[in-house]
Amino acid sequence: MQHIEQYHQSFLNYLEGFVVDKEPNNLYAPINYILKLGGKRLRPILTLMTAEAFNEEANKALNAALSVEVFHNFSLVHDDIMDDAPLRRGKKTVHENWDLNTGILSGDAMLIMAYQLFENYEPITFQALAKLFSKTALEVCEGQQYDIDFETRDDVTIAEYLKMIEYKTAVLVGAAMKMGAIVAKASEEDQNTIYNFGRYLGIAFQLQDDYLDAFGNPETFGKQVGGDILENKKTYLYLKTLELGSKENKVELLSSINDSSISNDDKVSAVKILFDVSGASKATLNAVKDYTNKAFGILKSLDIPEEKKAMLQNFGENLMNRRV
Ligand code: IPE
Ligand code: IPE
Ligand code: MG
Ligand code: MG
Ligand code: MG
Repeated sequence: MQHIEQYHQSFLNYLEGFVVDKEPNNLYAPINYILKLGGKRLRPILTLMTAEAFNEEANKALNAALSVEVFHNFSLVHDDIMDDAPLRRGKKTVHENWDLNTGILSGDAMLIMAYQLFENYEPITFQALAKLFSKTALEVCEGQQYDIDFETRDDVTIAEYLKMIEYKTAVLVGAAMKMGAIVAKASEEDQNTIYNFGRYLGIAFQLQDDYLDAFGNPETFGKQVGGDILENKKTYLYLKTLELGSKENKVELLSSINDSSISNDDKVSAVKILFDVSGASKATLNAVKDYTNKAFGILKSLDIPEEKKAMLQNFGENLMNRRV
């Protein structure tokens, strides 16, 4: 197998050919902007790695990998509108740099482009990819709706939260890997196993995303630190503070969320202290480890060469320790 950096590079080369300047400029410029803004590219890398893990040339999965990344970027453009986010990958979000309507329509176009990329595959593969894509994309919408609904609810449970992040984030990581397996014509059983590996990894990934949203380094994180706190997101940190914190911690959390008299910076600092003293921060990091280990347990059962498993495991470990 190739080194992770090689998958990354071949993906970037392929993306370069995909991104073209076209008219109307106000539709395509934002698409090119977000696609070339960088990002970790973890989903397409996983698609390529999985194809190779199942004995197919990674190149054959480039269109599927690109589809997943274009869809992911579409979801970010609309997510940033929904979350009122000013920053993405260290730069202005699309709706900030242009405007709301531009973000909506460019996002729509990206969703269609993502689907269109499957036309590069023969009918049987096309159908399998399209079917998985449609199911996954709808689930992402469901997850995003729960995420928004939870902002104004005060009785969200950890189980509801876990379902929400499974849908908004984890199913796409699972699907990215399953697409690689579909392109490689792996057995249905193997396709489902690798999907579940990705799904657990995706849950760990979103838990870590919640953690970094509060505790990431503003210099390097690339998003507005504390954005989830300001949007009243029911993150794992928040829910665990209510579960593990003292009575005072809970009262303080609930009142600081509703307090419009303090500045955003003061609110974020106060809530972060509560996340820490309640033990919620630690619990979140432990949950990241737990779900990553669940993913590794599934990987063990897969019948592929040890060298390939080690590569996927290594990728998962890097994700768990990421700071951006
Ligand atoms: C951000 O995804 C959205 C989540 C699902 C948490 P990434 O953290 O993969 O974003 P980029 O593509 O690397 O910027
Ligand atoms: C994003 O969740 C999930 C999707 C984009 C579908 P977040 O809202 O936590 O992602 P970030 O933190 O803005 O990247
Ligand atoms: Mg967001
Ligand atoms: Mg969001
Ligand atoms: Mg987030």
